[in-house]
Amino acid sequence: MESRTIRYGVTAFTTLLLTFSGSACSKEPEAPALAYDPGVRNDGDPGAGTPFPGLPDPFQKLFNAGQDEFAKPDQVVEDGLGPRMNLDRCVGCHSNPASGGSSPESNQQFSFFKDNLDHKTNTLPSFITENGPTREARFKVVRAAEDPKNAGPDGGVHDLFTIAGMKGAESCKLEQPEFEEELRRNNVIFRIPTPVFGAGLIEQIPDTAIIENIKKEADRDQKRAMGIKSKLNIVISANTRTALPNKNGNDGTIARFGWKAQNKSLLVFSGEAYNVEMGISNELFQTEREEDPNCQFHTTPNDTTDPSHITETDPVKRLDILSDIEKFASFMRLLAPPEPSSNAPGGSDSIARGKTFFSQVGCALCHAPMLKTGNSKIPQLREKEAHLYSDLAIHQMGPNLDDGISQGQAKGNEFRTAPLWGLGKRIFSCTTVERPIW
Ligand code: HEC
Ligand code: HEC
Repeated sequence: MESRTIRYGVTAFTTLLLTFSGSACSKEPEAPALAYDPGVRNDGDPGAGTPFPGLPDPFQKLFNAGQDEFAKPDQVVEDGLGPRMNLDRCVGCHSNPASGGSSPESNQQFSFFKDNLDHKTNTLPSFITENGPTREARFKVVRAAEDPKNAGPDGGVHDLFTIAGMKGAESCKLEQPEFEEELRRNNVIFRIPTPVFGAGLIEQIPDTAIIENIKKEADRDQKRAMGIKSKLNIVISANTRTALPNKNGNDGTIARFGWKAQNKSLLVFSGEAYNVEMGISNELFQTEREEDPNCQFHTTPNDTTDPSHITETDPVKRLDILSDIEKFASFMRLLAPPEPSSNAPGGSDSIARGKTFFSQVGCALCHAPMLKTGNSKIPQLREKEAHLYSDLAIHQMGPNLDDGISQGQAKGNEFRTAPLWGLGKRIFSCTTVERPIW
């Protein structure tokens, strides 16, 4: 079985920052102590989860409305939940160290199963555990034994649970995917949530800035010497198979969100996540993924823009005109980037040395320390430095990390350079093997 998740004891970045905090040649008795791994810095201030400071009041209100929606559970079938889903709320997967983050310590998919689902119709897949990472499962291929007509590459998300047997869904009879069988056949890969702090800055980086960075003259020789090649995930119409309907298209600009940079924007991700993770169809993804008529208890799309709120006198209530996906996207767009630690645990000199070393050994060739945003209507996003530690390009990561899934231009062994900002507060990391990749 392949697993794309390991639990952090170490973060490569902090280890690097710290390992080299002492000078090997130093003779002074007071040389800094050898670096140590502090583990997850899950103490006190999360250093993330707040909006950009100084947002104009209407944007602050929009952020609040988005944050509420991001946290709101759609627990009952009348909300449009399912028929198949991984969970009932965005924040359930994106919550550590604050709303918008990644997998929490205590797995909400586990408690959702325990507290909300019918146990005659749903079983808990073996890879969901009480204190393990939140997981999304994808199958590599459609096996001929399962579905001879559609046998071939799959790559899609297979939701863990169904609404079958829930209150109000008595007529719905659905089976969960055969996870244990697919696991035995090594046909399942997992993804954990990527955090969205600072995502508005990432969205606002012009394509030209991404291209200029990966073509930087100053990096050319080192990249060549290390064999580093970058590719951009420019999403073109893909997965077309003769005589089958075409599945997707796009506008030809650089996609940048998700483990394989497979999605273009926060709105696209919101629309997709609402439908894929929670089964709530919306104005971007109108079609129910599971259309069994016995399992539909809501008009489709489930969530829409609602102009009836135009008459509200309370400006906050008037924001309910917006569909939920617009609110999710606005919340994420206005979330400030994570704050780096200025002193933990080795002190600021140690961090500065680590930063230099990070560049010297070549990490920064992919984990670009900074990209600049373009001209935005929102001052906090306009011409700002985003210290994301990613070039937003995809790179070949070798056979050990190959997950067998292509998304857009990204093949099985290709992944987006994971942005490293906020890494010290992440509990879980993502690899295909049960060991750290560094
Ligand atoms: C069941 C867990 C789960 C739920 C619920 C969930 N997500 Fe995610 N989220 C993920 C996973 C896993 C990824 C990585 C997906 C990938 O790359 O394939 C992700 C990635 C993202 C990203 C990409 C960030 C980046 O920079 O890569 C955004 C944006 C996002 N989710 C928004 C949302 C929104 C909005 C909701 C609610 C509608 C939501 N998510 C609900 C698991 C979840
Ligand atoms: C060739 C480009 C490249 C270079 C050079 C590189 N990385 Fe990465 N890094 C990536 C990619 C791509 C990923 C995402 C891998 C995946 O999803 O399987 C990643 C993931 C990571 C992660 C996991 C982040 C997470 O969100 O779980 C850490 C930590 C990391 N790199 C640190 C480093 C350090 C430290 C160095 C230098 C020693 C380095 N990387 C050099 C491309 C690179």
